[in-house]
Amino acid sequence: MNLQTKKHLLDIDCYSKEEIFQILNDSKIMMEILNRKVKKIPTLRGKTIVTLFYEPSTRTRISFEQAAKILNADVINISIKESSSNKGESLLNTVLTIQSIKADIIIIRHPHSGAPYFLAKNSEVPIINAGDGSHAHPTQSLLDLYTIQNNLGKIENINIVMVGDILYSRVARSNILAFSKLGANITLCGPNTLIPHEFLSNNHLYKNIKFEPSLKKAVKNADVIMPLRIQLERQSTGHLPNLQEYSKQWCITSDIVSISKQDVKILHPGPMNEGIEISSDVAHGPKSLISEQVTNGVAVRMALLYSMLNTEPNMNLEE
Ligand code: CP
Repeated sequence: MNLQTKKHLLDIDCYSKEEIFQILNDSKIMMEILNRKVKKIPTLRGKTIVTLFYEPSTRTRISFEQAAKILNADVINISIKESSSNKGESLLNTVLTIQSIKADIIIIRHPHSGAPYFLAKNSEVPIINAGDGSHAHPTQSLLDLYTIQNNLGKIENINIVMVGDILYSRVARSNILAFSKLGANITLCGPNTLIPHEFLSNNHLYKNIKFEPSLKKAVKNADVIMPLRIQLERQSTGHLPNLQEYSKQWCITSDIVSISKQDVKILHPGPMNEGIEISSDVAHGPKSLISEQVTNGVAVRMALLYSMLNTEPNMNLEE
């Protein structure tokens, strides 16, 4: 299947179920390349990829850079601190400047929800949303889907429990769309003040989703538990008494994990605050897929860049 008609990736709902599965299938091929001794193929030779991050990132930025370099693309990372944004240049003018140097794709992270949508309307260069405010993080969803499919063999009918700050989490928002579309059963759990009840309404976008206020009940039949970081940088005051109180009630500890299924898997999009939303022994324990998520992120982003930029009819997998 050719996804090149999809000019931008703004959120996971840009893709149909079939298109998502196509990316997950292509990611398997990319994983084989990622595991080679010489991990380099010529697929995107001559293409230029620009990362434009207005917020800190470790995983997403280096993962896109690694993915692009393995596919032989050239990568320009723009450091906002050293760019002309600091001299008052607008986001649009920055992007139009990147367009003028003949970049082939722009990967943007921005603190304002909707910023990638604004750019997609006003720029000729394809845009990938690498996280916008508390709104969306579609490539995180793709790698989470891939990780679960790879470990559980399926996504349909699995029980996934997302715990914590759903309200401000762009990962949660994209994952609710993604897992709902692919038929998983989603349980949201956390302080009532951090649960957006719009997801629980009778909206056709959000299927098989419920709120469970008790963490012990929520995890009982879980196949996957995904604690989320408290997004203090996005919260106004008043949602939580303090992080210690939060941790006492909502931290995913080995005691909590022991209530759920024997083969439950633990995912976390990162960055983690160990001891707050997840204990260190769970984060680095045998049920944790957190490191695997990061590796899978490279393969998934390779598949995505390939689908959006490759112009050859067949994938050249030779070194
Ligand atoms: N998951 C994620 O987006 O991590 P970074 O903020 O490190 O990119």
